[in-house]
This record gives sequence, C-alpha cells and structure tokens, in this order.
Amino acid sequence: MENSKKSRRGAAGPGFFITFEGPEGAGKSSQLRQLAAALQERGVRCVCTREPGGTPLAEAIRAVVKEFNGGEPVAPETELLLMEAARAQHVAEVIHPALEAGMTVLCDRFGDSTSAYQGAARGIDREIIARINRFASRGRGPDLTFVLDIPPEVGFRRNAVRSETRGKFDRFEREDMEFHRKVRRAFLDLAASEPDRIKVIDADRPAGEVHAEVLRRLAASPDFAVYLEKL
Ligand SMILES: Nc1ncnc2c1ncn2[C@@H]1O[C@H](COP(=O)(O)OP(=O)(O)OP(=O)(O)O)[C@@H](O)[C@H]1O
Ligand SMILES: [Mg+2]
Repeated sequence: MENSKKSRRGAAGPGFFITFEGPEGAGKSSQLRQLAAALQERGVRCVCTREPGGTPLAEAIRAVVKEFNGGEPVAPETELLLMEAARAQHVAEVIHPALEAGMTVLCDRFGDSTSAYQGAARGIDREIIARINRFASRGRGPDLTFVLDIPPEVGFRRNAVRSETRGKFDRFEREDMEFHRKVRRAFLDLAASEPDRIKVIDADRPAGEVHAEVLRRLAASPDFAVYLEKL
C-alpha cells in the first residue's frame, strides 16, 4: 500500500476514521446518521461524534465559540485556538480510544472545517492551521473525508426553518454570503489537493441519492477494504 495511506492509518491503531465536511446545511449530520445506520446493519461498530464538541468539555467550548455574544469581537486567533482546544480534548477522550479499539469513527466536521473557516474565510495562514490541526489530533487525520458540496444559498434555505425555530443564528451562520462562498471554495480546493482522502459529493439533490453515493465511494476505498478484512 502507498506510504501516504499507511501513515494516515498507522498512528492510532486499527480503526477507520471518516469525516463529513461541507458548508452549512449541506446535509452532513443527516448523511452521517444514515451511513452509521448502514454500517451498523452490516455489523461494523461505529462511534458517531461531532466537532466542535464530542465530550463535555469540548461541548462547553462549542457553546462559547459558536454562541459568544459578550460585547467584544472574537479574534480569529482566539476562535482557532478554541476550536483546536476542543479538538485536542475530543481526540484524547473519544476519537483516539475508539480508533485504538478498532472502531469506525464518524465525525461531523473536523480539521478541514478549521482550514476552511478559520483559514480561508477568516484569513489565518494555512500552514499554521495545518500544524495545529496535526498537533491537536496527535497526527491522526481522517482516512476518508466526504465533502458535501452545496451552494451556500441552498444550505441556508434548508437551515432557515431550524434557525428561526431556535430563535437565533450562531456566529458563523450570521456571516455574509461572501464568507460562506469562501468556505465552499476552500473545501473544494482542499479536495483537489488531497484527492485520495477527500471525496466531493454533490449534495444539492435528494438525500437518498447522496447516501447512495457515500456508500459507493466508501466501498471504493482501498483503505476501507483493508480495514474490513481485518475485522
Ligand atoms: N439532500 C437533501 N435535500 C433536502 N434537504 C435536506 C437534504 N439533506 C438534508 N436536508 C435537510 O436540510 C437541513 C440541514 O441538514 P443537516 O442538518 O443534515 O445539514 P448539516 O450539513 O449538518 O447542517 P449544519 O452545517 O447546519 O450542521 C435539515 O433540515 C435536513 O433535514
Ligand atoms: Mg449539522
């Protein structure tokens, strides 16, 4: 097998690490649930989790970083470090142990969201982000990433009902369309730079079709085939 694949998989035990990425309202959370159900039906043990969050401390950081409204702007550097602090805790407490136990970890957003939001959209140097991402995740990135691609306007229309019901938009949802276009572009650029790991899926179509393509792409992953053989 290629070295790059070995190095991604080698660092933290025999599990398989899948992340869902993409703009707001792309369908990440629903696709993650559907994939987990499909895998569990086939006897694959899964852990479903999300970022920022996934542990009590990381969820507390999530609330601050998404909802803070305390009368001062949040500096981009602060936002980055809060995201990474949450990630470090999440990796230490949930992701690393699950991978070491041989499970499939399905995570709703991960380091690519940091690259897209705090990097491309907020303007922090991407090399700095790449280094802190590696530090916070102990060098163990995802084996496979699905970028659910959607025009930001479509994602926002999908989410509008939920946000209105909840009575508020979070700090990211309040950003303008230009911000969200940068986020979308950044995910596509990341995918172009790491085509083995990151698979772009057109998410502007019925959820069942998106799910079918997620399953197809996963079945086509040589790393996943190796993982399944060893179960
Ligand atoms: N393919 C689809 N077509 C139409 N609506 C969809 C589709 N997938 C998900 N939805 C709906 O769009 C909304 C957003 O979906 P979901 O919460 O899964 O997206 P998300 O990417 O996790 O959003 P967020 O970035 O806000 O967490 C939900 O109301 C969901 O039911
Ligand atoms: Mg979601």
